[in-house]
Formats: sequence, structure tokens, C-alpha cells
Amino acid sequence: MHSLLLNLVVRICLFNVSNSDKITFENVTVRSYFYKGALETQATSVNLKKIIPDEEKVRVDITGGVPILYEKSVFDIPNLNSLDLADVGLEEIKPGAFGNLPLLDTLFLNRNNLTPIKNGTFTDLNVSYLNLSSNSIFLLQRGAFKNFKADHVSLDKNKLTEISSGVFENVTLRSLSLTNNHLYIIAPKALSAIGLTTLSLFGNKLEEIDPEAFDMQELALLDLNDNSIKLLRPGDLRNLIELEVFSLEKNELKEIPDGIFNNTKLTYLNLAANHIVKIASKAFDGMLALTLLRIDSNNLTQWDDWLTSPFASISVRFNQITEIPDEAFKNYFRLFNINLQGNRIRKISTKAFRKLEQIRYFNLADNEIDNWDPDTLGNVSIVSLDLSENRLKCIKGDLETIFKNVQKIRLENNPWKKECAKKVEKFQKKKEANTVVGWLAAITI
Ligand SMILES: *[C@@H]1O[C@H](CO)[C@@H](O)[C@H](O)[C@H]1NC(C)=O
Ligand SMILES: *[C@@H]1O[C@H](CO)[C@@H](O)[C@H](O)[C@H]1NC(C)=O
Ligand SMILES: *[C@@H]1O[C@H](CO)[C@@H](O)[C@H](O)[C@H]1NC(C)=O
Ligand SMILES: *[C@@H]1O[C@H](CO)[C@@H](O)[C@H](O)[C@H]1NC(C)=O
Ligand SMILES: *[C@@H]1O[C@H](CO)[C@@H](O)[C@H](O)[C@H]1NC(C)=O
Ligand SMILES: *[C@@H]1O[C@H](CO)[C@@H](O)[C@H](O)[C@H]1NC(C)=O
Ligand SMILES: *[C@@H]1O[C@H](CO)[C@@H](O)[C@H](O)[C@H]1NC(C)=O
Ligand SMILES: *[C@@H]1O[C@H](CO)[C@@H](O)[C@H](O)[C@H]1NC(C)=O
Repeated sequence: MHSLLLNLVVRICLFNVSNSDKITFENVTVRSYFYKGALETQATSVNLKKIIPDEEKVRVDITGGVPILYEKSVFDIPNLNSLDLADVGLEEIKPGAFGNLPLLDTLFLNRNNLTPIKNGTFTDLNVSYLNLSSNSIFLLQRGAFKNFKADHVSLDKNKLTEISSGVFENVTLRSLSLTNNHLYIIAPKALSAIGLTTLSLFGNKLEEIDPEAFDMQELALLDLNDNSIKLLRPGDLRNLIELEVFSLEKNELKEIPDGIFNNTKLTYLNLAANHIVKIASKAFDGMLALTLLRIDSNNLTQWDDWLTSPFASISVRFNQITEIPDEAFKNYFRLFNINLQGNRIRKISTKAFRKLEQIRYFNLADNEIDNWDPDTLGNVSIVSLDLSENRLKCIKGDLETIFKNVQKIRLENNPWKKECAKKVEKFQKKKEANTVVGWLAAITI
């Protein structure tokens, strides 16, 4: 987009230094973009103000070396709309470097060598986006973000181990990303009362969810993937009353007790890739808003009727479940999507589907099913059933009758006996044709 604006490119040299002041911008290239065009200058100055054009709403991109931002170096610039100081070798920001920047909207300080962020660095700033990713920040001092307001701050890929209290003092911040740091402590209330709705913490070293730290009354999305959380205690989420999307993939959970998730507003819960062997029977009770529950790649050996909403999908792929017991889906008459691919299911009770009328999508692919009782499905209607990659050698009886209420079926990659393979193939062809007719009918209607 900027290149389109480069219709008015002038190269000028500016030199703007008085003797006493420390020079922040020394022989840097300053590209300014504004409504009427763009300007490129090679400049030296203590203050950015002197080296950008006097146009309204200027976006500035600096290249060159800027090791230290001295006090008041980016100060009192009423027309500065965006400042890109990424990749300039920045090592230090003196408190008070930024100030009086009423139009500033985005500030890029990513890909530098910042280490601590000192008290007073971002005081009184009001921006929509601040990017501090890919530095070497290991400390945020108390008061680093005082009286600060932003929609989104990104501190990804730094070296933070702790968020202490008082870092975000009198702050309004909607979305904070702290992925790929080394965080293992978030102090009580450190992130409370700042209005966070989205918090990304994936790729850290957190071992627990301390409800005093995770006290964010407006938080809707929390990503804790790839941490070291070992256990959950009842009430851990009690101060996250608006949480809707919660992801705990790739942690070290072994058990899901009652009293964590029940009666929450969660619509999405991801517990995949932990070491879960046990889920308490009421763990997901009263989660009426749930639309997707993921428990893939754990160590569950038994199916339980975990779904507590008829509109929810559940994915329990790649566990160690061996059978589908009697009345396995008794909570509701209708269910949405159930994915049990890649387990070790061999036995399906002939009473498994009792009390159930309808499932939209039921995936049993890549299991060990070697026998399919013709009465298994009863009158349950299924839009899509996947039985591929099992150990079926034959299914007794008339397939069209057995699967009369199944719209779409996959049966490939089973070790069908010769005499059965033909029957299966013929049946599948017919089903496919019917499905196409069904699709066409649906389209023309
Ligand atoms: C300023 O930088 C340019 C290249 O960016 C270089 O050619 C020039 O010699 C430098 N001038 C001084 C005074 O360092
Ligand atoms: C921050 O900036 C926005 C947009 O420029 C403005 O609407 C808002 O009033 C400002 N807030 C404060 C506290 O200055
Ligand atoms: C923020 O900085 C990181 C690291 O340089 C970069 O990957 C990311 O794209 C930046 N974000 C935005 C929105 O520019
Ligand atoms: C931060 O700096 C301000 C102004 O210099 C000072 O008044 C305040 O005590 C400092 N806060 C901390 C926590 O060091
Ligand atoms: C809090 O910060 C806002 C600007 O974001 C400022 O107007 C207000 O005076 C600050 N309040 C206190 C108590 O410092
Ligand atoms: C969740 O269940 C536990 C015990 O099973 C109960 O004490 C707690 O009140 C329930 N939570 C909510 C929010 O209802
Ligand atoms: C499941 O348990 C087995 C044996 O106890 C272990 O070797 C395996 O790594 C576990 N898998 C997961 C995903 O935790
Ligand atoms: C299935 O439906 C048929 C006809 O509607 C009925 O006669 C039969 O009893 C039902 N089977 C089961 C297992 O509910």
C-alpha cells in the first residue's frame, strides 16, 4: 500500500542537533507517508519531530541504527500516526522517550534487542497496537505501562519469566499476547481490572491456573496451549466468568475433576494432547453453550457420555478407548458430531445407541472393529458414518437395510473377504449415487 503512495519521493538531508542533547536519530533513513505522498530523508536529530514533514497524519518508518531512544526523542508530535522502529538495533528506551503523541495509533518496536522495560516507558500512551515481539525482554518493571491504553499489545518471543503486579497500572488493554516466553509466574491481580478480553499465553512454562492471577472478569478467550499445567483444582476458573474459548492443548494434565468447567459459558474447550486418563462424571455438566469439546490425543480408555449439549461436537480421537458400552449416548435424543477415530474400539454394544434418534457425523475410522451386529444402529439416523480402516471382514445381512438410516457411509480399507467385498462395493456405489441425487435435489430446492 505504501509503495502506491510513493508518487512524491524527495530525498533531502536534515541535520538537527544542539550540543547538549543526546542524539537518538543519527544518520537514519526516515520514510514518511502521508495523504499527499511520501518523503524519504537521511537525517540526524535528537527528536523525531524535526525530521518528519509537517503534514497531517504521518506514518513513519525508520531504518538504520537507533540503539537508544533518549528522553523526549519521540515527543510532542501532534501529526505522528504510526511509527515503525522495528529492526533498528534498539537496546534501551529511556523513561519519557515517548509523550504527547495524540494521533499515534501503531508503534512497532519488534525485532530489537530490548531487555528490561523500565518504569515510565509507556506512560500516558494511547494507541491501538504496540508490537514488542522478538526482543530479549526479561523484565517489565512496575509502572512500565502506566496510564496506558491500547487495543492490542504483543510481547511474543521474549524472555519474560514473570508478570509482577503493578506493571499494568491504570491500564486499559483489550488483547495481550505473551506467547513463547518463559513465564511461570503471573502475580495475583497483575492482569486484573484492565479489561482484557483476549489473552494468549501459549508456549510458556505455567504450571497452574491460580484463580487470583486469572481474575479477569471480561476475558473471553484464553490460550494456554503448550505450557506445563499439571493439575486443575475445583474453582480454578471461578474468576473467569465470561470465558468462552479456552484452550489447554499440550499440557500435562492427567485428570479432569468435577468443579472446573461445569456450568461455565465455554463454547470451545480444548484439552487435547495432555495425558488424561480420567474425567470425572460431572466434569462437563451444565455447559449449555458448548459447541466443541476436544479431548484428542490423551490416554482415555473408557467412553463416557460427556456431552451435555445436543449442539456440541466432541472429538476424542487417538485415545485408548476399547469399547462403546450400553446406552453410551443417553443424555440426548439428538447429537451433533462424535469423532472417535484412532482409538482401539473393538466392541460396540448392541444397546449402545439406545435412547438416541439422530447423530449428524459419527467417525469410528481407524479402530479395531471386527464385527458389526446388524441391529447395532437400530433406528438411529446418521448423516455421515465412517467405518473405514477397521477390521471388518464381512457384515451379515442386507447392507441397505442395516444402514437404511445412514445417508453417507465410508467402509474402505477393511480386510473384506472376497465374497463380501463385492457386496460392499455395490452397496457403496448405490449409496454414493443416492447421495448425489440427494445433493442435486437439495440444490434444486
Ligand atoms: C549515512 O548513512 C549512509 C547510508 O545509510 C552512508 O552512505 C553515509 O556515509 C552515512 N553518513 C555518515 C555521516 O555517517
Ligand atoms: C484514546 O484514543 C482514542 C482514539 O484516538 C480516543 O477515542 C480516546 O478518547 C483516547 N482515550 C484516552 C483515555 O485518551
Ligand atoms: C509483530 O512483530 C512480530 C515479530 O517481528 C511479527 O512477526 C508480527 O508480524 C508483528 N505483528 C504485526 C501485526 O505487525
Ligand atoms: C516510577 O517512576 C515514577 C516517576 O519517576 C516514580 O514516582 C515511581 O515511584 C516509580 N514507580 C516505581 C514502582 O518504581
Ligand atoms: C489513568 O489513565 C488515564 C489515561 O489513560 C488518565 O487520564 C487518568 O488520569 C489516570 N488515572 C490515574 C488515577 O492515574
Ligand atoms: C460444579 O460442580 C461442583 C461439584 O461437583 C459444585 O460444587 C459447583 O458448585 C459446580 N459449579 C457451578 C458453577 O455450578
Ligand atoms: C499413555 O500411557 C502409556 C502407558 O502408560 C504411555 O506410554 C503413553 O505415553 C501415554 N500417552 C499419552 C498421550 O499420555
Ligand atoms: C424401528 O422402527 C420400526 C418402524 O418404525 C419399528 O417397528 C421398530 O420397533 C423400531 N426399532 C427399534 C429398535 O426401535
